[in-house]
Amino acid sequence: MSGEEFRSGEAIARYLGISRASVHNAVRQAQALGIDIYSVRGRGYRLVFPHSWLDAEHIQDALGGLGYRVRRYEQLDSTNGRLLAMGQAGAEHKTVLTTEWQTGGRGRRGRAWLSPLGGGLAFSVLWRFNRTASDLSCLSLAVGLGLVRALRQIGLAEAQLKWPNDVLLGGRKLAGILIELQGDVLGPSMAVIGVGVNVRLPDELRHEIDQPVVDLVEGLGMAVERNHLLVQCLKHLHAVLEHYEREGFAELRAEWEANHAFHGREARMIAAQGESWSGRVAGIDEAGALLLDTDAGRRRFYSGELSLRGVPA
Ligand code: ATP
Ligand code: BTN
Repeated sequence: MSGEEFRSGEAIARYLGISRASVHNAVRQAQALGIDIYSVRGRGYRLVFPHSWLDAEHIQDALGGLGYRVRRYEQLDSTNGRLLAMGQAGAEHKTVLTTEWQTGGRGRRGRAWLSPLGGGLAFSVLWRFNRTASDLSCLSLAVGLGLVRALRQIGLAEAQLKWPNDVLLGGRKLAGILIELQGDVLGPSMAVIGVGVNVRLPDELRHEIDQPVVDLVEGLGMAVERNHLLVQCLKHLHAVLEHYEREGFAELRAEWEANHAFHGREARMIAAQGESWSGRVAGIDEAGALLLDTDAGRRRFYSGELSLRGVPA
């Protein structure tokens, strides 16, 4: 289906070798999934927003000599799930998977990440580190920083980080990071770095998400071309990941703190079991732990079963 001109049901049916009734049903199913389609009697169908599909070859070429191998799927359960399996079977360092439609996207602690067909960016990068898994405690912070730099590059100066793994815009969630690690205590590690960015989030999906969300169309006031966005993300991730491999996180720490939405602010840390601590966010330590100055003194929180929330001023 085109984003520019109407195509009649008959023409689509002929092209696909299916009946007009099947076209009609498919359009209704797509609309139910949140894809906006104009349907005008006598003229046919047209996408409300033109889509640009992801193009692995174009993305790889645009990244020149960085050495990524990009694979694009029309549909996948989870790019992280698939890449973990491929990594265990020996897939190469810097393999990237992306998909138009992720049907079983996951966040931390078994929670779901929802993204619409063609309206989100979901990708995973396989990175093999010569570091032990415990040496990678700041990895999700470094990745967040790479994403914020990429978002700046496409014109979104206000994107901020939320410890440990979210990107926010105006306090609402724009992107999430899920890192899944495998490796021996003493040996090299394999990281599958998954990133989901909201590009154009339909209302149907927003209602299913239990926290305030935002998309790039709102943030930029215009649509963003997803191939360009993915190229910028991979470029900036490459820089932070290479840096992390060589030097660790220390030199990135000040920049991370400067971009933290809660730096110097009152906030609350909530444990999965319900316990919570209030205080002022003082920063992060060299291991990536969040430092909170509470009435009872400074506390350190290591990522895991914890959620950080701002406290209204
Ligand atoms: P916390 O704030 O507790 O640290 P989180 O926001 O980092 O949690 P994750 O488990 O990492 O949570 O991510 C999954 C959560 O992300 C879901 O529970 C849902 O609230 C939210 N979510 C799912 N899809 C989207 C989306 N497209 N955009 C923004 N948020 C989403
Ligand atoms: C979060 O909510 O904070 C983490 C969400 C991570 C979502 C991305 S989308 C690509 C990759 N594949 C997944 O199943 N999850 C990550």
